[in-house]
Amino acid sequence: MRDESINHAFLDGVLAGEYPDVYYHFGVASGDGLMDALRDVRAIILAGSGDRIVEFAQRWSALHDGAPIVALPKEERFVTRYCAGVLFASHGMGMPSASIAVQELLRMLYFLKGGDHDAMADVFWARVGTSGGVGLPGGTVVVTTEGVMADLRPYRLLQGGSGEYWFDGTFPADVADAVVAASAGRGIPVEQGRTVAGNEFFLEQFRLDGAICMETPESKTAWLEWIHAQGVRNIEMEGAMLAGYLNHWGFPKFAMICATLLDRLQGDQVTASKEELHLFSERSGDVLFHYLTTTLG
Ligand code: URA
Repeated sequence: MRDESINHAFLDGVLAGEYPDVYYHFGVASGDGLMDALRDVRAIILAGSGDRIVEFAQRWSALHDGAPIVALPKEERFVTRYCAGVLFASHGMGMPSASIAVQELLRMLYFLKGGDHDAMADVFWARVGTSGGVGLPGGTVVVTTEGVMADLRPYRLLQGGSGEYWFDGTFPADVADAVVAASAGRGIPVEQGRTVAGNEFFLEQFRLDGAICMETPESKTAWLEWIHAQGVRNIEMEGAMLAGYLNHWGFPKFAMICATLLDRLQGDQVTASKEELHLFSERSGDVLFHYLTTTLG
């Protein structure tokens, strides 16, 4: 872990019991008895939708003799379930929403592990989601090697009024390899590649079908061909921030596993049937669970 990147000025006062930390968007605080149930957390799994979180927790529970599922009380922003060492949490859509979930989960983890760097570094993080493929057909699962923004530069935010802080969007290569290996030979098409995180589903993903459109067919194709030539294999909306924040604290174990819903080189609209979309998104869940069962048991 990178001790200098952790906000000790705030977080250590919470550990010392000087004041509680209120994880407002999850509806709990560090002093709540409910937090005790989460202390043995070994993995934090993020997904955009709350329904997916509920399904994941039920699936994990079934794999662990019906282990109890604990829900955090507030569900109006994020849906959270804890079961048998895994905290599943939804993050909504896009980096502004997901960054709130990640910041509060980082604070929660620091509290749960008593600020112990080794214990925190043992925790595996993953985002499981959907994406637009770039040169890959719908239904391919992409395990991300690096998360970048639409200009292929890292996630960055205003800092100190006039500057920008650039985050490191690299995903740990050994973990990506292990995620792919855990699903080898199981009939799921899995690829590794860079992933663009767009700030917008339409404009920053260069779609032509938004209510507002700033591209031509030519500029859209030029962008897609450029990012493909630079090793990008899919486009989603959170990965560059997620990797940036986890690298900032120095977590060694995290991954992003996204199913493609379409090939953006072929079109913009998601036209797959309900059954196809279900199958595609099941695949990313299967890849996650193969890895989790291999590594956590
Ligand atoms: N999610 C995205 O962000 N983009 C897509 O094209 C599909 C899913």
